[in-house]
Amino acid sequence: MIKVLIWGIGGKMGKNVLECLKNDGEAVCIGGVDKYADPKAFDVPVFAEAEQIDVVPDVIIDFSRPDALEPLMQFAVSNNCKVVLATTGYSIDQIVQIGKYSEQIAIFKTANLSLGVNLMTALCRKAVQFLGGSYDVEIIEQHHNQKVDSPSGTALAIAKAINEEFDNQKRFVYGRNGGDTKRQQDEIGIHAVRGGTIVGKHEALFIGKDEVITISHEAQSKMVFAVGAVRAAKYIVCHSCGLHDMQDLIATMVD
Ligand SMILES: NC(=O)c1ccc[n+]([C@@H]2O[C@H](COP(=O)([O-])OP(=O)(O)OC[C@H]3O[C@@H](n4cnc5c(N)ncnc54)[C@H](O)[C@@H]3O)[C@@H](O)[C@H]2O)c1
Repeated sequence: MIKVLIWGIGGKMGKNVLECLKNDGEAVCIGGVDKYADPKAFDVPVFAEAEQIDVVPDVIIDFSRPDALEPLMQFAVSNNCKVVLATTGYSIDQIVQIGKYSEQIAIFKTANLSLGVNLMTALCRKAVQFLGGSYDVEIIEQHHNQKVDSPSGTALAIAKAINEEFDNQKRFVYGRNGGDTKRQQDEIGIHAVRGGTIVGKHEALFIGKDEVITISHEAQSKMVFAVGAVRAAKYIVCHSCGLHDMQDLIATMVD
């Protein structure tokens, strides 16, 4: 059995991963880390700080906050365990750090663990190839009113994929407000909607003369990400180091 430690176990996603692992024949949760959760609420050991952890996992699944990165990575390197980083909102410096840590341990990092969103990203790349530069691209993402970061990591990942198809000639414009905001041709607009209990919806609009093509994905339950995280854990546990993402995992499924 693959031994999993869930970082951020008390959160919405942490609880879903715990639930998912209860019904898994190949991986098991041996504990969790959460700075703010009540350990008594869990039937596995839960630690507030990395220094307190007294279990040795094969892999960590992280759904916490960017400020957990450093202690998490220190623990992973010292104990030679693999990491699935699902948390979003990392700074540029932290992304550089993650790259450096991946020289020592295997890290799986993705802004979105849903297979459907990764298909959407691939379709957006195709749309740019097909439509060329005469269509304006705008991305609209919608999430629940408790989400801390915006735009979502997924919206940014979709925007980056689209921009790659434009040879990175576009610049991102986050929302529009004011009297001097006429759209320029080199923009990819990114807009964040927040409210209620929306799990996560992403739309990419390719807007041309007299027509709009919309590619969209809607997650209807957070369980889809938990299933993806467990799948990623099973994938990354077989690697010794390097930075891996959903495209690598999908490649193994397609083969
Ligand atoms: N990659 C994906 O597919 C995907 C999907 C869903 C959510 N996410 C991301 O996962 C993260 C968590 O999402 P959530 O909805 O479960 O949030 P949440 O707020 O419900 O849970 C976060 C948990 O982390 C704990 N925590 C906060 N700071 C911590 C720290 N420094 N050390 C240890 N624990 C800490 C909190 O106490 C909480 O229990 C967010 O960044 C979210 O954007 C990613």
